[in-house]
Amino acid sequence: MGVGVIMVRRFEPADVAAALVMEEIGQPQPWTEEIFNSELSAEDRTYLVADDGVVCGYGGVMLVGDEARITNLLVVSDHRGQGIGRRLMIGLIESAIAGGARHLTLEVRSENEAARSLYSGLGLAPVGVRPGYYYDDDALIMWAHDIDSTEYAERLT
Ligand SMILES: CC(C)(COP(=O)(O)OP(=O)(O)OC[C@H]1O[C@@H](n2cnc3c(N)ncnc32)[C@H](O)[C@@H]1OP(=O)(O)O)[C@@H](O)C(=O)NCCC(=O)NCCS
Repeated sequence: MGVGVIMVRRFEPADVAAALVMEEIGQPQPWTEEIFNSELSAEDRTYLVADDGVVCGYGGVMLVGDEARITNLLVVSDHRGQGIGRRLMIGLIESAIAGGARHLTLEVRSENEAARSLYSGLGLAPVGVRPGYYYDDDALIMWAHDIDSTEYAERLT
């Protein structure tokens, strides 16, 4: 399917139903409605969706002190490879920086080449492994430091 004009906007409670369908199809361990509702109402979280008329992706970030932690990211399969994941990540990172974040971290399946490549392009480097973190894979822990610096801002443009 072709991609029209994509808007990145705040994730609203009305978007949960669409996200649940995408989770079931796209995530090995899908989030439930309860998880989405609890995340959307929690403090220090930002959730965004990509919308081209229908929701085609979403992601979230949690702020813990000066650390931003990516909690979820997904782009529907027929919209992948067109920059939407990167746009969502940049929106989440900018929101985290505005909230006081200086560092960025996340966990990613070690075999998830697409996500690892996306994150590397955003300056995240692998620093460790959590063996057996997922039921079928290890987690790679990635970090980017000083995301509030001018140098890092240049990477996002
Ligand atoms: C990971 C994911 C969010 C990427 O979304 P996307 O919209 O396809 O990514 P983008 O088009 O913005 O790509 C940005 C960069 O990511 C990398 N990338 C994306 N897809 C890739 C692929 N299939 N293989 C290798 N690198 C890839 C590239 O570096 C790309 O930059 P480039 O286009 O300049 O080469 C998407 O594949 C997805 O939803 N996967 C399933 C859920 C998931 O794995 N979420 C992450 C959990 S940690």
